[in-house]
Amino acid sequence: MNLFLFGLLICVSSSSTSAGKVRYDNYTLYRLTPKNEREVNLLKNIEESNPSGYDFWTSARSVGTPVDILIPPQSGNALRTISSMFGMHTEVLIENIQEKIDQEAGSLEGSGDFDWTKYNTVEEINQWLESLVDKYPRIVTLIKGGSSYENRDIIGVKVSYSSKNQNKAVWIDSNIHAREWIAGAVNTFILNEILTNKDIRNVAESHDWYIFPVINPDGYSYTFTKVR
Ligand SMILES: *[C@@H]1O[C@H](CO)[C@@H](O)[C@H](O)[C@H]1NC(C)=O
Repeated sequence: MNLFLFGLLICVSSSSTSAGKVRYDNYTLYRLTPKNEREVNLLKNIEESNPSGYDFWTSARSVGTPVDILIPPQSGNALRTISSMFGMHTEVLIENIQEKIDQEAGSLEGSGDFDWTKYNTVEEINQWLESLVDKYPRIVTLIKGGSSYENRDIIGVKVSYSSKNQNKAVWIDSNIHAREWIAGAVNTFILNEILTNKDIRNVAESHDWYIFPVINPDGYSYTFTKVR
């Protein structure tokens, strides 16, 4: 990529931090789909040059595989210029990501109890795990895997229907990538199914399950309170 293109990518530093959470007003999520190796390499070069404020949700991998990039408002023109110079297929997936963050934040203000109609904080998830031990004392054991850098407990559970310790173990952890909230939601959902779904008794009871919904509690917490 030539210097001119790099020059286009440079932009004023990004998001306004007020006292609380970082905001992403008018940040736009673009989807670029490279149609040949040249465009794949262009996208790789852009990611490697790490332009300020660009957030690659997916990396360029191969021809035809879409690449999603969140871009600050002041950089939108530059990106559109580059992609149109190359004739690269470009679409806007989300015009203003802050609107989505606000919608999501509204849905977080639930009862404070754990459920699957909202995303749960690490505290809500840990409380729910502890409640499972009370509810299924012979089946669920709490495991404190350790402490995080910021001194949060890294909590998981073992689910075992057999005391013989001969079952094959299944390990499922999530939210090591802190902002991928959906992963922890899926993981806790699986845990709930293992405990409650009558249709999967066989698989549930023939394995020992080790489940850690939030293996990176500091990062997870950070995405709730500081930077989504
Ligand atoms: C976002 O864009 C709209 C429309 O262009 C504009 O009115 C608004 O001031 C922008 N918001 C911020 C925080 O830059």
